[in-house]
Amino acid sequence: MEPEMIGNPIELIREQLGHEYAELLVEITRTATLLGFGIFIVGGTVRDLILKRDLKDIDLSVTGDAILLVDEVSKSLDVDIVRYRKFRTATIKTGRIEIDVVSARSEVYPNSGALPEVKLGDIHDDLKRRDFTINAMAISINEPYHLVDSEDGRSDLNAGTVRVLHNRSFTDDPTRLFRMFRYASRFDFDIDENTYIAAKSAISKQCLATISKERLTNEVLLMLEEPHVDNAFRYFIEFDVLGLPVSGNEKISIEHTNLEFKWIALLSMYSEDCYEQFCSMFSLDRKNTNMIKDYIDLCSLIKTNDLLAVDRTNISATYFLLKQVPRPVMDAYVACHPNQLNVNMLMDYMMYTDQVKINLDPIGLINLGVDRHHISDVMDILMIGALTGKIASRSDEEKAVVQYVNEHKI
Ligand code: CTP
Repeated sequence: MEPEMIGNPIELIREQLGHEYAELLVEITRTATLLGFGIFIVGGTVRDLILKRDLKDIDLSVTGDAILLVDEVSKSLDVDIVRYRKFRTATIKTGRIEIDVVSARSEVYPNSGALPEVKLGDIHDDLKRRDFTINAMAISINEPYHLVDSEDGRSDLNAGTVRVLHNRSFTDDPTRLFRMFRYASRFDFDIDENTYIAAKSAISKQCLATISKERLTNEVLLMLEEPHVDNAFRYFIEFDVLGLPVSGNEKISIEHTNLEFKWIALLSMYSEDCYEQFCSMFSLDRKNTNMIKDYIDLCSLIKTNDLLAVDRTNISATYFLLKQVPRPVMDAYVACHPNQLNVNMLMDYMMYTDQVKINLDPIGLINLGVDRHHISDVMDILMIGALTGKIASRSDEEKAVVQYVNEHKI
């Protein structure tokens, strides 16, 4: 097939990213040409240029040694370069956009999830090793400019289809499952039928067991950061990625929420019996771990206590049960348990606690004679007083504190 001739891709970069990046590419291309290398914009950059979407980075592939190229480039340009000599790839760090340069290569995966064996190759080899047809196009940026589309990515991009290049793709690299969810949800594309079957088959063969906890966590994190994360979540459940029983909660909308909340929402899509197993699959940072732990504690607390209705007469018992639970965890519980009776209780409880404000702080209590070991007890008394309507002002608070000090002789 004749290659499709297209306009100067550097001008497309100029339109999208400005003069500075276009000139950088001109210089990199000039150097590659002097070295006798072909140089191509590849992967997601071509996809996003065709879709006219904002570029997050620029992916380049050269038919030659990428390290040699960046070494030469660094002689004429003042840029930071990170070299990955083992993989013959490099990243040029400049401002908000990074330029990734790879040596065009073929890859063979010795086993599922392992790092591939790499051999330098031409641009067709380099496209063949990629994940999906929509990510397997290249545009040559030394003249004559043309689109290399041996995997027919352009048609899939037009049709809105995510398609793997071959059926072993997910077993070779199981992280591609998450990439598929990300692209299908980000672009609202369909998953091609054979790709769907290949993904299901790889999951049923436990392909995810071949990747580390850290990689799995990282892929889920990338998924959680997608703008249309709700759809990505649905694929995650539909494909039964974790192999855990589900709770029926998968309709929760979590777009526009923060990361901790998204992890909880993901957890809540699974049955409570397997929360521990869920947590053991990921390597989460301390903030997320604590929030998930508090959430699990709240679930079991609500399950083991008959918390159905709360009002001013019975609020103190609920206060003692829930006082340690951080507010964002309660918010997450409410959002993740739509239509449950105890959610109304929790919302009422939050409404009552939102309405009260204690004027005295720990220093104020110490000034009134409270021993510092009793501060938390006295705070509880003030909160209960305020929640039940018995304490309504700063002077009520002071009276209650003085009474406590006198009674306890502290
Ligand atoms: N790639 C691949 N298999 C992977 C990861 C990456 O084939 N497991 C290829 C794809 O061709 C991809 C390119 O490497 O387009 C660059 O990877 P990356 O920067 O992760 O992806 P982008 O396509 O830029 O996608 P995103 O917009 O999500 O960053």
